[in-house]
Amino acid sequence: MRGLIGKRVLVSGGSSGIGLAAARRFLEEGCRVLVGGLDPAEVDEAVAELRPLGEVTGFAVDVGHEPDATALVEAAVRELGGIDVLANNAGIAWREPFLEITPEHFDRMLAVNLRGMFLVGQAVGRHMVERGGGGVIVNMSSTNGIAGEEDYAHYNASKGGVLLLGKTMAVELGRYGIRVNTLCPGYIRTPLNASIAGAMTDPDFESTYITTRIPLSRAGRPEDVAAAYAFLASEDAAFIHGTELVIDGGQLAVM
Ligand SMILES: NC(=O)c1ccc[n+]([C@@H]2O[C@H](COP(=O)([O-])OP(=O)(O)OC[C@H]3O[C@@H](n4cnc5c(N)ncnc54)[C@H](O)[C@@H]3O)[C@@H](O)[C@H]2O)c1
Repeated sequence: MRGLIGKRVLVSGGSSGIGLAAARRFLEEGCRVLVGGLDPAEVDEAVAELRPLGEVTGFAVDVGHEPDATALVEAAVRELGGIDVLANNAGIAWREPFLEITPEHFDRMLAVNLRGMFLVGQAVGRHMVERGGGGVIVNMSSTNGIAGEEDYAHYNASKGGVLLLGKTMAVELGRYGIRVNTLCPGYIRTPLNASIAGAMTDPDFESTYITTRIPLSRAGRPEDVAAAYAFLASEDAAFIHGTELVIDGGQLAVM
């Protein structure tokens, strides 16, 4: 991808799954990376795994907690000397029927997936505006931000919010040369989805889901989404702004 060499990249939620693959891809493209994550041990493990690929450090925080989100961005500015690209990736998900969701569960989902994305995005936006010279922010939504999958009302609401958050950020930050776009992956095989599938009583849940809902008949790979992160962060996407990129093997095309 054009224009990525030497870029300073913050990947929130970079210690597992899609974020870990994105961190790997950015390092392979010649970027310097700071990975965030909730669990300090997982962040350390990710950094150790990534280190042979290039310059990488880690910082563990809860992005739903305002002082933590600010600390994450400050750590990236300190370690990397500034932030050129934010992969605003951290998120959680679990299945729960709409009628059973407690206010506490709803709040936790929104706190990490929407509030956390806002907090980290705002802190990085302020840094980029103050420093000048523009930048790129890629927020993580989902196909569940576009259509309402059953048993995910709280998750769907959080990811729908991320889509409009991103569009508004694009409208307000474009004048500073900061490009903002959103990723909408479908079913990607990650530790998150492994735990969701593992909690289902039907042992064939995943294979049935894939064959009935995904026209390409396979789960997505974290690397499929990492490639989209790299593309949107690169100069090849220089005029792509305020929109979303769906990476779902055709799932949203099914009627
Ligand atoms: N896996 C999929 O099918 C899929 C599809 C669409 C969107 N997504 C989104 O992609 C992102 C990554 O998902 P994944 O499947 O790779 O999950 P994952 O569980 O493998 O990784 C999640 C990452 O987010 C971090 N994280 C979780 N809660 C956090 C918190 N409170 N503070 C800071 N970091 C936190 C974790 O430490 C980890 O690094 C999420 O935003 C998820 O909603 C995933």
